[in-house]
Amino acid sequence: MNVHDSEKVIGTLLHEGYRQVETVEEADLILYNTCSIRDKAEQKVFHRLADYKKLQARGKKFGVLGCVAQQEGEKIFERAPHVSLVCGSASYRKLPEMLVQLEAGQLAAQVEAATFRAARVEAGNCEAEERETEKLVRITGLDDRQTDECFETEFTARTNPYRGYITIIEGCDKFCSYCVVPFTRGKERSRTAESVLAEARQMADLGYSEIQLLGQNVNSYKDPTSDLRKKKTFAELLAAVGEVPGIRRVRFTTSHPRDFGRDIVHAIDAVPTLCDHVHLPVQSGSTRVLDAMQRLYNREQYLERIAWIKAAKRDISITSDMIVGFPGETEADFDETLSLLDEVGYDSVFTFKYSPRPNTPSLSLEDAIPDEEKARRLEVVMARQREIQIERYKKHIGMTIEVMVEGYNASRGQWVGRTSQNKTLNFTAGVRDDATRGSEARSTSEAESTSKAAGKSARSTQATSRATDRSARSTQATSAAADCGPRVGTYASVRVTGSFPNSLVGELVV
Ligand code: 5AD
Ligand code: SF4
Repeated sequence: MNVHDSEKVIGTLLHEGYRQVETVEEADLILYNTCSIRDKAEQKVFHRLADYKKLQARGKKFGVLGCVAQQEGEKIFERAPHVSLVCGSASYRKLPEMLVQLEAGQLAAQVEAATFRAARVEAGNCEAEERETEKLVRITGLDDRQTDECFETEFTARTNPYRGYITIIEGCDKFCSYCVVPFTRGKERSRTAESVLAEARQMADLGYSEIQLLGQNVNSYKDPTSDLRKKKTFAELLAAVGEVPGIRRVRFTTSHPRDFGRDIVHAIDAVPTLCDHVHLPVQSGSTRVLDAMQRLYNREQYLERIAWIKAAKRDISITSDMIVGFPGETEADFDETLSLLDEVGYDSVFTFKYSPRPNTPSLSLEDAIPDEEKARRLEVVMARQREIQIERYKKHIGMTIEVMVEGYNASRGQWVGRTSQNKTLNFTAGVRDDATRGSEARSTSEAESTSKAAGKSARSTQATSRATDRSARSTQATSAAADCGPRVGTYASVRVTGSFPNSLVGELVV
């Protein structure tokens, strides 16, 4: 979500005549997009802002965007006085206007400072010295959380030329008791299906073949159009995007179990381009905890939705988010979370330690779980899930699966592909030179050690594949072998020959 917000902000500013540069050293204005979903993410923001301070002397200006900006508001100016602009996630539409104000204010401040300097020289007045320094201009955009408008932009600067995001719904009205999102991103507002489809067609024309529909609660989508002939439910929109000529894969995230209807499963069964994957965050396996979290469903209702997905004609991969150590979570509650993992058999789970967030109702709940206990539960969940994934990934051995080629990892001599189920499938293509052949055996343990490293972090096992993915892209096309194999952005059939808890390995089928 945040990545796509940045793409939209960058595209909008490029259209306004700004230029994007590679490093902070080259920039006159540094805009920092932020996330406040957990305390750790927020702390990182203030450390980074402190790092930026040393660049202030070089005349650079700083702006903070996103959820930390919305949450902390003008307090950011106190904690990081070198910041000139604070713009919340619901106010991006106004950013160009805010930057104009910033530049105008800066100019006025420079003129004022110069005038004082001149007056002081003329009168020999040293008291004016204090005011000589240019006043820091401060611009805020924080009051738009009640807006009905989406940040629709035709100027999105997408970073990947094959796979792109489309936001279909912004904000959230669910108010889960632990979550800051409704406070930072504002109320739920959907775009018309017509405008989403126009964007999908435009992307297909530009050569994109994979689209990911985005929303905090993507399946709470409500088409705001008054034209009943064009109005679409979420499942209908999903199917229509999948039918756009040129589009080969459609994903959607994140679904809320309360609004997850059977029609979504029917759409996946009916439209081949819709991917075999549903991310359905459960947060806890205990109905008692789900109730305290104000999740609006119980364990049985969640499992009913899982049963719909499992009853599909296609083999749909299911992934989830889980929070451990919510206030009052007993050992028995925690055991229910573990048993849910076994019962569902997820392909990946993002696991988090509960992090108390400002303004949220759960902040005032008693029976906080000590951090060491949260850490223990996190380890237990991750270890159990790892075992489940070992078994689940193994099942693919011997299958031939279509992947989208995402990159080439020269050090491992492997291409990196992604399956419809969103699994990483690293593969060789029979065109290896000696150097790459030598690294094949090593690649096995490397892929594995990546997952061990990620296993230690609080983030999920899936973070591993992202890291692998990133490193693969960075070394893309650096080897002669890469030139002979499949092209990035194309689709290839790969026979799976091995598996790890977070990835598969295989050979290209020609
Ligand atoms: N503490 C821990 N995890 C949280 N999440 C959201 N808020 C919190 C919090 N306060 C997790 C949920 C959500 C994911 C995006 O982040 O699991 O699904
Ligand atoms: Fe947060 Fe709950 Fe909304 Fe998801 S549904 S964004 S967890 S409030």
